Amino acid sequence: MSTELPIKNVFVTGAGGKVGSALLPELVKAGYKVRALRYDEVIDCPGVAEIVDGDLRDKTLPARALRDMDAVIHLANCKENRELFLETNVGGTFRLLDEVKNNGHIQQFIQAGSDARAGIYYFPRPFPIDENFPHSGYPGYYPLSKVLEETICEQMRVQYNLPITVLRFSWVHGQDDILAHATLKGPQFGVPVWKEIAVTEEQKHFAAQGLDAACRMDHPDGTPGMRHIVGLPDVVQAVMLSLGNKAAIGKAFPIAGPAPFTYDILSEYISKKLDIPVLRFQVPEFHDFRHSIVFTRSVLGWEPVYDIFKIVDDAVAFRKAGKRRVETKYPG
Ligand SMILES: NC(=O)c1ccc[n+]([C@@H]2O[C@H](COP(=O)([O-])OP(=O)(O)OC[C@H]3O[C@@H](n4cnc5c(N)ncnc54)[C@H](O)[C@@H]3O)[C@@H](O)[C@H]2O)c1
Repeated sequence: MSTELPIKNVFVTGAGGKVGSALLPELVKAGYKVRALRYDEVIDCPGVAEIVDGDLRDKTLPARALRDMDAVIHLANCKENRELFLETNVGGTFRLLDEVKNNGHIQQFIQAGSDARAGIYYFPRPFPIDENFPHSGYPGYYPLSKVLEETICEQMRVQYNLPITVLRFSWVHGQDDILAHATLKGPQFGVPVWKEIAVTEEQKHFAAQGLDAACRMDHPDGTPGMRHIVGLPDVVQAVMLSLGNKAAIGKAFPIAGPAPFTYDILSEYISKKLDIPVLRFQVPEFHDFRHSIVFTRSVLGWEPVYDIFKIVDDAVAFRKAGKRRVETKYPG
């Protein structure tokens, strides 16, 4: 019996976003016929068969977007937005799945999930967090929408046996994101925002003088924080391995890097690479977390390779090449 689903035509939402724009060339290279949804940015990928303009809030979108498609990769999301998240993220996901139920020819629906649904960073969590850990997002409309999106996926699978795969991405790092995150000088990417939590004389001096430093996040007892993120190419690899894979149907997979990192190691490495000092910050509200990716590795044959050193190396190379980062609207 074949382990592959007969998928050729793929509809991709969020195609011009961070994950989408890295994924499109791989889909094209693999021979898929891609219909990309364009909302508010340029989609520049040779070989994409069709670009459709549309808004997830538009109730007429699903029928025209899914016509003649075999699979959907649903990446679009308005992120942390109190006014829009229900209609865009929750309503948009529901309407796409409702169309999958009604038209009956979609072989697979891949939903972008997030580790925000597990309340990482803000709440103490089991060590590691695995795929069976219940939904329990951290505060915010974005985590709420990721929990609701997944809940709709689960129910549509239970009620109608829809062929759904959820990929729960950790914080995705591409470009020079890790340097933007873990150095004092802007651009700032993600939390904590170092300048806002500068309290010691040394920290204030660095911030006021516009000096750069590799920022180390510590717990109040001085031990380094631990975090688990993922490199953008590993995310793309996970989507490619899931697409058309019968074993991926009906499952939710944690997508995090090969190993978590601690901020002592990260800050020392960046310090050496950029020749800047390390500056330590104590962050009381942070809780260490790591994900178990055993299930994802064994079911999908996924082999993430972007550990923290490779993520930093790529970020340094990105800056050395003079590339300009594309800002993301919400870092998670
Ligand atoms: N980037 C991360 O660190 C991260 C981590 C975990 C999960 N995720 C999830 O992965 C998916 C992709 O994330 P990303 O970082 O590429 O996002 P992004 O913010 O870069 O892109 C979001 C996309 O959604 C589209 N969009 C927004 N509102 C829309 C609307 N009303 N109609 C149609 N399209 C609309 C945008 O045009 C854009 O293409 C999202 O579901 C996100 O929640 C991302």
